[in-house]
Parts: sequence; structure tokens; C-alpha cells
Amino acid sequence: MSDLLSVSGLTAGTEDKTILHDIDLGIEAGKSYVLMGPNGAGKSTLGHVIMGDPQYTVTSGTIAFEGRDITSETPDKRSLAGIYLSYQAPVEIPGVPLYSFLRTICQKRPELKMTSRQFRQRVNEVCEQLSMSTDYLTRDLNVGFSGGEKKKVEMLQLLLLQPKLAILDETDSGLDVDALSVVSRGIEAYRSTCDGALLIITHNTRILERINVDQVHVMVHGNMVSSGPSSLIDEIDREGFAKYEAMLAQKAQGELA
Ligand SMILES: Nc1ncnc2c1ncn2[C@@H]1O[C@H](COP(=O)(O)OP(=O)(O)OP(=O)(O)O)[C@@H](O)[C@H]1O
Ligand SMILES: [Mg+2]
Repeated sequence: MSDLLSVSGLTAGTEDKTILHDIDLGIEAGKSYVLMGPNGAGKSTLGHVIMGDPQYTVTSGTIAFEGRDITSETPDKRSLAGIYLSYQAPVEIPGVPLYSFLRTICQKRPELKMTSRQFRQRVNEVCEQLSMSTDYLTRDLNVGFSGGEKKKVEMLQLLLLQPKLAILDETDSGLDVDALSVVSRGIEAYRSTCDGALLIITHNTRILERINVDQVHVMVHGNMVSSGPSSLIDEIDREGFAKYEAMLAQKAQGELA
């Protein structure tokens, strides 16, 4: 089966530092993947580079989505193609009410065309699904929202947009137990309504309890060092990343020899 997303030999970073080294990653439609790794491993950077964040430059390698090379495309084109990135630290945008923001991003997608009334109804439904008061809709996007509320706004966008691939960067961090189960239910709803593919970046294995994970990838120091079945999650939870750091050190030694 050909991949929905195919990252090959990707090396990328900022102007003065390479952060990602020769990364390969394949994501099939409708499957769930988890990306784990210690702090600073490059997980968020990989998510941002896949989304086309202009603060990073790709120095070699390619990113293809549905068989099309998108390595040089702007983030809005990637988003319209069906890639969604939920930010680890969602940005605040003063002057843009949440409801207008949601209406605008949905109107740009022909497949989501709805009347104002249908849209209002859909937003209300999703807010209810996320146990989120509709009072937030009139407030400026994320301005003054708590950490957990911002994460729920990310889920609200996910459920409205129904992208083909959702990259969730620590969407679970900072959530209390109840919010965590709301967000897990939101992820389940996304999976069941549009059979979207998921790449979940997390340090918290609790969010994964309700999700059927197909594959786990492990990154260390900007390198993809291992991948395996969902049982890796429990192993990493127990034993940490020492084994993977050793694997990378061994590989580097082998290359030097
Ligand atoms: N814009 C940037 N400018 C300079 N350094 C950056 C930039 N973005 C990322 N880095 C550096 O790249 C490395 C990888 O960062 P990244 O945020 O991708 O890690 P992470 O795996 O997501 O970590 P965490 O688990 O803490 O979220 C870090 O050392 C970080 O400081
Ligand atoms: Mg991160």
C-alpha cells in the first residue's frame, strides 16, 4: 500500500543548526502512529517541518503527501491538502474571535461548504462533544485561554476540519483527568468519522489507552532510531530512552569506524 505521507532522507533545521538528520517516516491512510523521544529530540520540529513552518529549512530529502512532493509548498497549501498540526503551544491571536476563525478555515475547504446555520449547528455539536462552553466562541482566539482550554480549541479544529492526517503535538499535556478523557474521545470521534491517519507526539501514555496504535517511532537527537509495535510504549514507560540513545551512539561509532 502506498503511503499517505512519505518522508525520505529529511535533513532540516534552522539557519545555523541542523535539527533533523536523515529522517525517514511513512504514514499509511487510516493508521495511528506514536512518535516518542526525550525532550529536545526533534519531535515538534519534525511536525513543524511536515507542516511547512518557514522557520525551518529543509537541506535535503523530500516530503510527499498522497504521492505529491510538497517539500516546497506553503503551510496553507499543505493544510488544504489535508494535513493538520495541533501545536504543542497554541498561539494567541488577538482581534480574531474563535468562531470567525473556525468559519474562515472551514469556508476555504470546498468539501466542508455549509450554510451559516449548518455551521453553527456543527460547531455547537462539537463543543458539546468536547464538554466546552460555547461562550469561548466569541472570545479572541486562545487569548487568555488556560493551557487545557487551548488544547480543546485544537481538538475543536480537528473535529471540524476532519483532515486526512492529524499530527497531534502533545495535545494531552496540561490536561486534567476529565479533559484528557474528553480529548481521547475527540480523537476516537475523529478516527471513526473520517478514518483519518494520526501521528501522536506524546510523553503521556494515558492518552494512548483508548487508541489502537499501529506503530511506534522513536527519535533521539534528531534521528529516527527505532520503530516497532505498540508494546514499545509500555517498554519506554518502564525503561526510558537509554537503550535508544545507546543505539544511536553505536550507529555513530559504526559510521566513524
Ligand atoms: N526555531 C528554533 N531555533 C533554535 N533551536 C530550535 C528551534 N526549534 C527547535 N530548536 C531546537 O531543536 C531541538 C529539538 O526541539 P523540539 O522542540 O523539536 O524537541 P521535542 O522533541 O519536541 O522536545 P519536547 O519533548 O521537549 O517537546 C531542541 O534542542 C530545540 O532547542
Ligand atoms: Mg515538542
